[in-house]
Formats: sequence, structure tokens, C-alpha cells
Amino acid sequence: MASLKGQKIVVVGGSSGIGLGVAAAALQHGADVVIVGRSSEKLEAAQCSLGQDRRVTSFAVDITKEQDVARAFDDVGPFDHLVSTAGTPPPGDAIERIDIDVVRRFFDSKLISAVTLAKHAARTLRKGGSMTFTSGINKDRPPVPGGAVVAATAGSFGYFAHALALELAPTRVNVVSPGWVDTPMWDDMVGEAKVGYFAQMAARLPAGRIATPADVAAAYVYLMESELTTGETMHIDGGQRLV
Ligand SMILES: NC(=O)c1ccc[n+]([C@@H]2O[C@H](COP(=O)([O-])OP(=O)(O)OC[C@H]3O[C@@H](n4cnc5c(N)ncnc54)[C@H](OP(=O)(O)O)[C@@H]3O)[C@@H](O)[C@H]2O)c1
Repeated sequence: MASLKGQKIVVVGGSSGIGLGVAAAALQHGADVVIVGRSSEKLEAAQCSLGQDRRVTSFAVDITKEQDVARAFDDVGPFDHLVSTAGTPPPGDAIERIDIDVVRRFFDSKLISAVTLAKHAARTLRKGGSMTFTSGINKDRPPVPGGAVVAATAGSFGYFAHALALELAPTRVNVVSPGWVDTPMWDDMVGEAKVGYFAQMAARLPAGRIATPADVAAAYVYLMESELTTGETMHIDGGQRLV
């Protein structure tokens, strides 16, 4: 296993939820971390929660804007690992009612932006470093009705990683697929109803509880450190695919 000590890691989505958990875990492993998100306020709050560590810098970038992504990687310079957890709540309407403009924006924000990140990161990412993207349980257990768009998006990441792992070798390309994780995305989507949803799911899960960002962050750390893991999707879902 390669150590993360002194490695430079770009965490897109690092201002909140799973990405913030990855940033904290990478710092604990001795890395320098660059966190990326659209909102400067969220980035500042994240830097505070990470203890204003001098090893953390931030860039406010909307990854749906290619020129901004290109500029950000120019500014970051050479680095060792890319992690992306960026995402927004998916459209959840039944297929007959779905708004195609909303679907296009969702594909853009999740999938096209991952392609954009890979394109521009590949210029300055160390050969033999890694890229790790984020899919999710909705590809395996889609909400019914309304899960088709998010399932198609999340499901495509595994194949994206297979192809890129070959194309960019020896750089490794992997995916983490989380089950439900207690993050601000849930507060945005369902507000106080989160407590009830989580209690019901925890009672069904073989693991018996909902994941924290720290639980899932350990998988991203493993995929950055493991020199022989590439083209892999790692499921951290407490057994949610089984129930
Ligand atoms: N939480 C779960 O239960 C769960 C389960 C399975 C999969 N996932 C997936 O895991 C990913 C992370 O989820 P989370 O729960 O950690 O969400 P979160 O707490 O809402 O964090 C999302 C992060 O992405 C950033 N972001 C969103 N759009 C962006 C854009 N266009 N450009 C740059 N940054 C952007 C956000 O910052 P700004 O808003 O400031 O841009 C924020 O830092 C999502 O893709 C989600 O679908 C989550």
C-alpha cells in the first residue's frame, strides 16, 4: 500500500458530506488536500471544520463549466489523487412526468462533469496516482417510481472506470458506491423526515445503522492507497443491496 503522507489530493465535493469526510480522512493520513465546490461559503465552513489546517486549500469551481475546471487544475498544479463526490439531489418524478431539461442538467452535473474532471485532471495528475468517482445504491435499488434517471447515471460510473482504468494506466480509476449516508444532501431532500427514513432503513440493514461520511471515507482512502486496485467499484452500503 502506498502512503498518503505528503500526497496532494483534490477532493471535488470536499465542502460537504462524503467529500468533507474524505478530506478529513486524507488529512489524518498526512496528505495535503484541495477541496472544491461551487459555494465559497461552504468551502470556508469546511475549512473551519477541518481546523483551519494549513494543508487544506480550496477552490470555488462549478464543475459543469469546462473552462473553470481547466483553470482550476492549472492553478492546482501537479497532484497525486483525484476524488469526486460532487452531486446534487436527483430528479425523482415518474417517467411520464419527467422534465427533460432537469434530466439534462442532472446528467451534466453528475456524468458530463466527471468526464470533464477526468479530461483536465489527466494533464497534471501523477502517472500511477488515482481517480475515484462516486456512484450509489440507486443503481442497485432504484426508488420506484422515479429512479430511472439516477440509476442510469450511477450505473454508468462502473463502465466509465473500466474504460478509463485501461486508457490512463498506470493511473488507477475506481468508484465508490455508497448506500445511504447521513449528509446534508438528505436534509436538503427530505428535511426532518430524514429521522424516520433512517430509522426504518437502519432496521432493515444487515449492518443495523446508517453510514456516516467517515465510514465511507475509509473506502476512498483504501482506493488511493491500494496500488493494485483499478477499474473497481467498492460498495459501502451496510448490505443495502441485499435487502
Ligand atoms: N448521501 C447519500 O446517502 C448518498 C448515497 C449514495 C450516493 N451518494 C452520492 O454521493 C455524492 C455526494 O453526496 P453527499 O451526500 O456527500 O452530498 P452533499 O453533502 O450535498 O455534498 C455535495 C458536494 O458536491 C458539491 N457540488 C455539487 N455540485 C457541484 C458542482 N456543479 N461543482 C462543484 N461542486 C459541486 C457541493 O458543493 P456546492 O453545493 O457548494 O457546489 C458539495 O460539496 C452525490 O453524488 C450523491 O448522489 C450519496
